[in-house]
Amino acid sequence: MDRIATIADLREASRRQLPRPIFDFMDGAAFHELTLRANCDDFDKLRFRLRPLRDVAERSLATTMLGQPASMPAAIAPIGLGGVMWGNDGEKLSARAAKAAGIPFTLGMLSIATIEEVHAEVGEFWFQFCMLKDRGLVEALLDKAKAAGCSVLVMTVTWSASGLQSRMVRNAMMLPPKITPGTLWDFAKRPGWVARYLRGKNVGFNNFEGLVADPGDLAAIVEQLDSSTTWKDLDWLRSVWPGKIIIKGINSAEDASRAMEHGMDAVSVSNHGGNQLDHAASTISVLPSVVEGVDGRGEVLLDGGVRSGQDILKCVALGATGCLLGRAHLYGLGAGGERGVAKALDIIRYELDVSVAQTGLNDVRDASPKILA
Ligand SMILES: Cc1cc2nc3c(=O)[nH]c(=O)nc-3n(C[C@H](O)[C@H](O)[C@H](O)COP(=O)(O)O)c2cc1C
Repeated sequence: MDRIATIADLREASRRQLPRPIFDFMDGAAFHELTLRANCDDFDKLRFRLRPLRDVAERSLATTMLGQPASMPAAIAPIGLGGVMWGNDGEKLSARAAKAAGIPFTLGMLSIATIEEVHAEVGEFWFQFCMLKDRGLVEALLDKAKAAGCSVLVMTVTWSASGLQSRMVRNAMMLPPKITPGTLWDFAKRPGWVARYLRGKNVGFNNFEGLVADPGDLAAIVEQLDSSTTWKDLDWLRSVWPGKIIIKGINSAEDASRAMEHGMDAVSVSNHGGNQLDHAASTISVLPSVVEGVDGRGEVLLDGGVRSGQDILKCVALGATGCLLGRAHLYGLGAGGERGVAKALDIIRYELDVSVAQTGLNDVRDASPKILA
């Protein structure tokens, strides 16, 4: 870890740790992967203005997101099967690293670790779900989340149809995966990962244990995702969930305004990391219009393409309260488990701190478009 300077370095380190199909599951996206690239490229096109000769000896990166204190404007994004990156235990390891770093962790509905396990590990966290055809299943999951004291619920709305993950096709890893001599060789080359995998718990959507016949039947649960979900389901959700709700996957002023009218507390500008609609506009390019649509009635978060502390500062400058870190933390997890996630968060915090100072700020929350060139 000593020679790791950037999230890109962690990506390379995770490539060396993980079997190719697992690395590609995390690193790849839908179809031509254009949106995945655009999310990052459009951050890179935004530049800061250096603002010297201001007293920045005292600086603060702390903020609040959804009423909760955070040591910097970032939280961990939900990742389906994210646990598989490190001993099938990755969600717990990421949650521990997030807690140590003082930022919120979001557990995905499609995680390997259960709500109860993560609660036992770290106490409080955010929970993400997608609407399912069987509303009884959704209610059962929300009850588990309530029982675990989750105060923030994230509803993902970017899954009306599943984008084709082209690298998964090339690796013969579509559900159910086909084991070919080529894939066997890909796994054989990464004995450390294989040993951790074999020692780890069963891979499955284990939050569904006791709710469906077989939580290991991934395809049957993915089949439950409900493409007929509409705004009226948000009213139902508001009536059954007393805590805060973030709608993850808002990309326009009109939809942002509508989410507020339906009583939501926040939106996350998101295109699911380019995993569903390819050729979608990058998240940072639509952030200003979403901020305009929310019009101060709630918070705006952003996920997609955040790979540095500089990216976080750009988001805050354009009106976001904070960012969700997807691949940025996953590369760390794949490279070194909990230590790797901690490294990713350290890198990002350092980059953010330097950028806050150099753009003449004492408090990250004061960032405005004035710091952008
Ligand atoms: C391997 C993988 C699995 C994901 N699974 C989920 C999921 O189950 N639910 C969800 O809301 N988002 C999921 N996402 C999307 C992330 O929460 C987030 O929106 C995305 O990673 C942001 O893009 P970035 O990683 O390029 O920054 C997943 C992303 C990846 C890379």
